[in-house]
Amino acid sequence: MSLALRLEHVSFAYAHGTPVLRDVELEVQRGEFVAIAGPNGGGKTTLLRLVLGLERPTSGRVEVLLHRYGYLPQRAQTGIDAPLTVRELVGVGRVPRTRLFGPLGHGDREAVREAIDRVGLTPQADRRLSTLSGGQQQRAFIAKALAGEPELLALDEPTTGVDIEAQEALAALLVRLRDELGMTILYVSHEFGAVEHFVQRIVLIRERVVFDGAPSALPGVWHDPSHVHA
Ligand SMILES: Nc1ncnc2c1ncn2[C@@H]1O[C@H](COP(=O)(O)OP(=O)(O)OP(=O)(O)O)[C@@H](O)[C@H]1O
Ligand SMILES: [Mg+2]
Repeated sequence: MSLALRLEHVSFAYAHGTPVLRDVELEVQRGEFVAIAGPNGGGKTTLLRLVLGLERPTSGRVEVLLHRYGYLPQRAQTGIDAPLTVRELVGVGRVPRTRLFGPLGHGDREAVREAIDRVGLTPQADRRLSTLSGGQQQRAFIAKALAGEPELLALDEPTTGVDIEAQEALAALLVRLRDELGMTILYVSHEFGAVEHFVQRIVLIRERVVFDGAPSALPGVWHDPSHVHA
């Protein structure tokens, strides 16, 4: 196993606020698929943002040994009134891998096509996003995150408003990406009932890491993350 990322004694507070993360310790190996859960306001999104370098810790150290990130921010599906097609949206996700301001080349178009295919949206590739169902739109955003061929995929509640079947299908897709491409995956979700059969590891965040282990080792009361007590 080789290390993908490590947080050492990480604490974080937004400007002039009280700490929202305290003394977080976390190590993730390459190729791990880690579910991150916890109550609203527990610090899950903040943790992802620290890992992605979008925030700096107030104290402690964040070390990430992967270079290409795919990030699906929380509630990314809102505000898609723009008349974009699936293929165009996914093409935007390819931009970090293309030459600056250059058009998408053959290899880029192929990567976009493959990302769309992986999420099962090939039949809808040239439809406008606004004409797709909520779950299909979510998959389009996941394809966008995949298009840059990330080493680290960070998904923040990608299944909000998506039925249990689609949640399980997404978890299965992520397992496949991990197995085939060796991707390291951080998956924030409230509904971990849908993912617990697919992941080896769940990390519960409530200001601190209050649980880190196999889903089967999770105390029963914690299966409802809103009842997590530190
Ligand atoms: N930009 C911000 N400025 C100030 N405080 C913030 C900001 N973003 C989040 N917070 C606060 O930090 C804490 C952790 O928020 P965070 O978004 O990381 O939680 P979360 O676990 O992702 O919650 P949820 O399940 O609701 O998405 C909360 O108390 C929140 O109010
Ligand atoms: Mg959040």
